[in-house]
Amino acid sequence: MTDLLPPRPFGPTGIPVSAVGFGAWAIGGSWGAADDGVSARALERALDRGVTFFDTADVYGDGRSERLVGRICRGKPGVLIATKAGPRLPKQTVDGYTRENLSAWIDRSRRNLGMDTLDLLQLHCPPTDLYRTGRVFAILEDFVGEGRLRGYGVSVETIEEARLALDRPGVRSIQIIFNLFRQRPAEDLFPLARKRGVAIIARVPLASGLLAGNIAADTRFAPDDHRNFNLRGQAFDVGETFSGVPLEAGLAAVEALRPLVPRGTTMARFALRWILMHPEVTTVIPGCRTPEQVDENVGALGVPPIGADAMARCRALYDDRIRPHVHGRW
Ligand SMILES: NC(=O)c1ccc[n+]([C@@H]2O[C@H](COP(=O)([O-])OP(=O)(O)OC[C@H]3O[C@@H](n4cnc5c(N)ncnc54)[C@H](OP(=O)(O)O)[C@@H]3O)[C@@H](O)[C@H]2O)c1
Repeated sequence: MTDLLPPRPFGPTGIPVSAVGFGAWAIGGSWGAADDGVSARALERALDRGVTFFDTADVYGDGRSERLVGRICRGKPGVLIATKAGPRLPKQTVDGYTRENLSAWIDRSRRNLGMDTLDLLQLHCPPTDLYRTGRVFAILEDFVGEGRLRGYGVSVETIEEARLALDRPGVRSIQIIFNLFRQRPAEDLFPLARKRGVAIIARVPLASGLLAGNIAADTRFAPDDHRNFNLRGQAFDVGETFSGVPLEAGLAAVEALRPLVPRGTTMARFALRWILMHPEVTTVIPGCRTPEQVDENVGALGVPPIGADAMARCRALYDDRIRPHVHGRW
């Protein structure tokens, strides 16, 4: 029996959060049909299993995800709810991040979540140039002073954006894609993040489900699932769908990974445990739609550490098969 991985301190706040959190995009929309009853049970199961970090955004189902997360999770002991703002802009420009717009987005999230003070507001993949000006961060500081936010962080697409964000002293957390198919942050970001003491939120940990090992070449996704409509980045950054790895290459790499998964462990748990082998990661946020997925993903907390040999083979597999598709891009 392995000890469960303990909660990890959330950046400069030091507040402990569960090492496995809950990603609440799919319960809002863009992943095919969602059933609010099932989603609510998934959130309740997560609370029962000790999950204390929930990640949502104002645009997930246009507020549906925030309303569900707020209804089920707000006010629960030790729970930290992170939301995001920005993509309500019709076009992403730095100039669109005005005080008025930010204020309106934040107040809408406060209403959706039913919280006077948001625990954590993340800028939701804003344009890279936004990080080069202090203007937006000064506005966020004002909102903290007014008690509308407890703190703020950023959700980024690229290492470059993450590194720029580290220069903003008020930034508490960086959310970035980090998984077996996106290994670059471990070398080019984590050492700096550790020095700066910011929290790292690892998103898309299962490469949109690919790394759970149940997707096959003939798997069909609903028309309103981004794994159907965003395969070439038609709607948003293609890196958010299967981590930006072409499906055929991803499926072949998953098959090559299977022999590394220890007997008695599932592929999903192995993929999440690999992420948690990196102490800089504060919390990993698999997208969960059902109580069963919650149970499965929280189970990663009980998986023994992955040995050095298997870690090296995961790295070699990435270098051989995945790196050419993603490393230079994000
Ligand atoms: N720009 C941003 O800031 C941004 C972008 C993307 C994601 N995020 C955040 O990160 C979270 C996680 O990323 P993600 O949801 O895109 O991708 P993910 O966690 O890699 O994949 C989630 C999907 O994998 C499948 N899955 C989950 N657990 C499973 C299990 N145990 N076994 C088999 N399949 C499982 C589910 O799809 P099926 O049920 O259909 O199989 C689920 O919707 C999001 O929910 C969101 O909170 C943020």
